[in-house]
Amino acid sequence: MNRRFTLVAAALAAAFATTPLMAQQAPLKVGFMLPATGTFAALGEMIEKGFKLHVQEQGGKLAGRELQYFKVDDESDPSKATDNVNKLIKRDQVDVIVGTVHSGVALAMARAAKESNTMLIVPNAGADAITGAQCAPNIFRSSFSNWQPGYAAGVVAAQKGYKRAMTITWNYAAGQETVKGFNEGFEKGGGKVMKELSLPFPNVEFQALLTEIAAQKPDVVFAFFAGGGAVKFVKDYDAAGLKKGIPLVASGFLTDGTLEAQGASAQGILSTLHYADNLDTPRNNAFRKSFALAYKANADVYAVQGYDAAQLLGAGLAAVKGDFAKREPMLAAMKKASIDSPRGKFTLSPQHNPVQDIFLREAKGTNNEYRGVAVKALADPGRGCRM
Ligand code: PHB
Repeated sequence: MNRRFTLVAAALAAAFATTPLMAQQAPLKVGFMLPATGTFAALGEMIEKGFKLHVQEQGGKLAGRELQYFKVDDESDPSKATDNVNKLIKRDQVDVIVGTVHSGVALAMARAAKESNTMLIVPNAGADAITGAQCAPNIFRSSFSNWQPGYAAGVVAAQKGYKRAMTITWNYAAGQETVKGFNEGFEKGGGKVMKELSLPFPNVEFQALLTEIAAQKPDVVFAFFAGGGAVKFVKDYDAAGLKKGIPLVASGFLTDGTLEAQGASAQGILSTLHYADNLDTPRNNAFRKSFALAYKANADVYAVQGYDAAQLLGAGLAAVKGDFAKREPMLAAMKKASIDSPRGKFTLSPQHNPVQDIFLREAKGTNNEYRGVAVKALADPGRGCRM
């Protein structure tokens, strides 16, 4: 053996000896299924930015494992959801799916994930069944259930002494379930919902419904809208002259990521959500600074949920040193993870939904400012889950 060969062989041997196993693995395939078009487009973008920010903070890897990204625009269209999710599952053969925003689309994704046993992390969609009747060992949520912010808003509205409420939303799972949560909290506190108004998703012709609210004069209106639709609703509510006379109490999505576009019309709106922009904790301050530095934009709840989806995946991967094939210990670690979120630390319910404080916020300038805890450590009941 010549000397040169010996030296090369020794160098190679040393490199392999010091390179951990995971660095030799192929990248983990992460499939984003999010809206890139339509009324929720901005929300999808924030989720992806949040996810990638956490990965970037870990040196571009999770638990030492490289990631390879795949993307599908789901258009927030439930009729295309099964085809779309199968692009990630069958065509791209991703290891993990991260998505989506729209509850109806997410329900179809959960079915496909359950059937194919593909890991799914839901970074927004609140459909109660995802961590209820459709729960599964491989399905996790880093966001909320629709019931959570709705219930907390009902509790707050009753505490404020309102007796007669009207609700208004889009007629699909997220709207219906959020309103159901509101009713539960409000009626428990002695209030009564007089009338539920709705229009099909993603319509924004609110005029006839606003006229009805003006005629009925409830003490309070509870609303769930989000994204582009929420911008239009808040402006129309103000333009119809309702803002001064009939207070809005909302699920926080009505004013999250939308305040710049809503301007004066949103100022003062009270809402409930698992995040407030100005939570003055070292964790949230560091997160917002890091997000602003990376993207020259302010973080919002969607960015937080995307960031925490990456943290949750990271917690699982860390337990198996990046070896995704070790499915059981990885799932076990995700199940019992404590996520150090910008919203505050949270753990998961047995059905894999965050157990979290729901805050009361008030829209001020371009921030949803913290006004206290509406309901502490709120756990979704996880109705119908058998795992
Ligand atoms: C949902 O469809 O579950 C949904 C959509 C947008 C939000 C929140 C929930 O901001």
